[in-house]
Amino acid sequence: MKRFFRTKSHLQLIGEADSGEHKLERALGPWHLTLLGVGGIIGAGIFVLTGQASAMYAGPAIVLAYIISGLGCAFAGLCYAEFASMIPVAGSAYTYSYATLGELFAWIIGWDLILEYLFGASTVAVGWSGYVVSFLKDIGVIVPAALCNAPFAYDPRLGMHLTGAILNVPAVLVVAFVTTLLVIGIKQSATFNGVIVLIKLTVILLFVFLGIWFVNPANWHPFVPPNTGDFGHFGWSGVLRGSAVVFFAYIGFDAVSTAAQEAKNPQRDLPRGILFSLAFCGLLYVAVSGVLTGLVPFSTLNVPHPIAVGIDAAGKSLAWLRPLVKLGAIAGLSSVVLVLMLGQTRIFFAMAHDWLLPAGFARIHSRFKTPWIATLVTGVVALVTAGLFPIGILGELVSIGALLAFAMVCAGVLVMRRTKPAVVRPFRTPWVPLVPLLGILFSAVQMCSLPRDTWIRLIAWMFIGLVIYFTYSHRASRLHHANQPPV
Ligand code: ALA
Repeated sequence: MKRFFRTKSHLQLIGEADSGEHKLERALGPWHLTLLGVGGIIGAGIFVLTGQASAMYAGPAIVLAYIISGLGCAFAGLCYAEFASMIPVAGSAYTYSYATLGELFAWIIGWDLILEYLFGASTVAVGWSGYVVSFLKDIGVIVPAALCNAPFAYDPRLGMHLTGAILNVPAVLVVAFVTTLLVIGIKQSATFNGVIVLIKLTVILLFVFLGIWFVNPANWHPFVPPNTGDFGHFGWSGVLRGSAVVFFAYIGFDAVSTAAQEAKNPQRDLPRGILFSLAFCGLLYVAVSGVLTGLVPFSTLNVPHPIAVGIDAAGKSLAWLRPLVKLGAIAGLSSVVLVLMLGQTRIFFAMAHDWLLPAGFARIHSRFKTPWIATLVTGVVALVTAGLFPIGILGELVSIGALLAFAMVCAGVLVMRRTKPAVVRPFRTPWVPLVPLLGILFSAVQMCSLPRDTWIRLIAWMFIGLVIYFTYSHRASRLHHANQPPV
């Protein structure tokens, strides 16, 4: 049993990170990292889910839902920041688990993170496709339905069935483009991300600062609409359910920690990147959802483009902002795909470096200095998933995967404070054990509010992962072989 719980010391992890053939290029400063965080966070959540969660669950109190969900993420973010400063290595939660809870847990989290990052990228690529098709329609270009929808759909009554569509071509194209960029270089990827973030922030800030003049405060009353009698439909239970739905909007801040081996000064800049991007986006979300629900009655927001509905309510004077919002969303979603895929490639890279995955995943391109095989594999899987499956089936899996990782990272901080109290921590999570415990609690409550089907899919996914671990990875492991070459 002992070998399943073998740990790697943090010094070993840091030492290996910059050694030999597995060296990545350290090109990212504090701004790049913060922008990566913002690039990964702001996307389908604020541009799509805000409307649905407000119309179906929370009403104007969607603002409170964003605050509650943001608080939960802040607790987890503080724990991520401690680990990122202490073990600045590419694998993020996977690596932190290896240092604290042991190899089996590390594998479980590494496998779980595929749900968050790889399937997250596919989910957002499908959302991106929806926005592009709608924008093209606005300017008179019609994309045939068979070429912009998934051929498979899932319905609880019908099960998995065919839709008649052939392939979601725009979703495939955006993943292919991002994959190419990620192979070419981290600097190029970060620069592209920076430009995109500026575009989406401009659009969102314009919406907030111009939209606020057209708010009708009557739309905010009652702020917490009375519960309909069903748990989760308005009232305080609706606020809770709304917070679980909009949690998706915060996913991505943790991706900053996967760029640890490409940061120039990771111990100082990673905690900053994680916490600044999270705080900034949290404030922005509160502002956007407040203005949106003040512009129109919340019941009208259950549409794929809720921000555009808000703008329409402001009349002719803001009509010029409508196409810009769609462009901002298109730009915004593409950087989320980029950051999530970047995160996935670095986690595969770290797992292969530990020999839990085949060595090819850790191979660095001689010219581009990127883990190109891990990137291509990530790209191909994300591309196939985005092209074939609908958004609904993927979205909740992404949230449950991220919540599980957050809870493990919070637990890891508690364990590490006990087992390695003397290790230098350039950033220390405040109020331990309260903050990690609250992080675990918030994550657990939100996980429990997700549907049973999502849990079944999570368990099935984990089962596949465990089969791979017990048949291949635990024997291939670098720790198992000490100094022998990988199998
Ligand atoms: N937070 C990201 C989004 O909302 C995943 O698209």
